Amino acid sequence: MASNPASPSSMEFYRDNTNLKWIILIASLFISVGTIWFTNILVNQLKERERNQVKLFAKALEYTTNDTENEILFITEEIIYKNNSIPTILVDEKSNITFYRNIDIDSSWSKERKDDVLNNELEEMKKVYPPIDILLKDPNSQEVFAVQKVYYKNSFLLSELIIFPYVETSILAIFFFVAYLAFNYSKTSEQNRVWVGLAKETAHQIGTPLSSLMAWVEVLRDDPDLRNKGFVDELDKDIRKLRIVTERFSSIGSTPILKKENIFQLVNNVVGYLQPRLSSKVKIEVYTLSENISVNVHAPLFEWVLENLCKNAVDAMENSGTIAIKILRGSDSKVLIDISDTGKGIPKKIVQSVFKPGFTTKKRGWGLGLALAKRIIEMYHGGKIFVKSSDENQGTTFRIELNSA
Ligand SMILES: Nc1ncnc2c1ncn2[C@@H]1O[C@H](COP(=O)(O)OP(=O)(O)OP(=O)(O)O)[C@@H](O)[C@H]1O
Ligand SMILES: [Mg+2]
Repeated sequence: MASNPASPSSMEFYRDNTNLKWIILIASLFISVGTIWFTNILVNQLKERERNQVKLFAKALEYTTNDTENEILFITEEIIYKNNSIPTILVDEKSNITFYRNIDIDSSWSKERKDDVLNNELEEMKKVYPPIDILLKDPNSQEVFAVQKVYYKNSFLLSELIIFPYVETSILAIFFFVAYLAFNYSKTSEQNRVWVGLAKETAHQIGTPLSSLMAWVEVLRDDPDLRNKGFVDELDKDIRKLRIVTERFSSIGSTPILKKENIFQLVNNVVGYLQPRLSSKVKIEVYTLSENISVNVHAPLFEWVLENLCKNAVDAMENSGTIAIKILRGSDSKVLIDISDTGKGIPKKIVQSVFKPGFTTKKRGWGLGLALAKRIIEMYHGGKIFVKSSDENQGTTFRIELNSA
């Protein structure tokens, strides 16, 4: 038989896909850190500039208060009023606010309100930067007789620039998150359509020749020469199996109706069907807490899940070992079915991937068995299926959780 070309490539696809996710994530991290780092440099340069500007502003104030010559006054006033972006407050030697620039104060406000706003601003400024001193000198002796202080804080532009990279990174993160969700959603709905479409089509295609085969078997039965020959019964058995397969495919393509079933009986049906078809070195053992545990299931689909899990177990044990199926009761009226094998186990790094469609480590596997099982248990039965434990060369246990009926 030719090896199945789909398997290695599908596995590669999953590897590449996760790699791509990491590359995108790391690249976005670099971009974010890069913007934060670069803006930080800009912010520091701007801070330096603003401090120098305030120093100049303070110097101008100092000149204006110390000197009375007119031409100096003209230049210094120019400087003082050119400061139209950095909020500044001048405080005299008695800690009274005597002058301010670039603080949002409406001239129509009451004096109390103005003072309130100014005092709050001043408190804020004191926390941000140390003040710049203005020395008041005696015009004759040049002796310092008082020290006034200029307090300031970042200009609006600078404050914006400081938060800008964080806003930008958050917006980018939200954008990526939404895009990722949308992409995943469309991927899932596309996958759903493929599952349903393919299953329905298969059921449909098998259905027609199957009905005619069934009719032919009846014709054969009516023939007195052939009736007692064993092959008619064998043919009938195979047709019945084909009918089960068709039913499974048509159920997965529609919304199956769940029925109350005895789980112990269902499991025994599957074991009864599988055991004679397996190597004599594989034993399947069934344990149950009680023979009367009922669950709401769609029997043909649920049997399909068990068959897939058992087939995987047989593969993992390389046709020799024991499969144990245990039916237990969990908390909250859950029914648990543990399927354990004594096989080679699932390596830790692939446990996450085994339920993905197309994921296989087998030469001739399609990687669909567990994806199908997950879909049947989770979507159609509202249950859960997961790897409960797996140890290298010791074996693996899959657990199915269903609601009891
Ligand atoms: N009981 C198990 N023990 C060890 N590995 C397992 C077991 N069950 C599943 N796996 C791993 O999970 C992979 C996916 O299983 P899945 O049944 O989905 O696909 P497959 O068996 O490879 O192919 P398919 O079932 O479509 O023929 C397997 O290839 C195998 O590596
Ligand atoms: Mg399989």
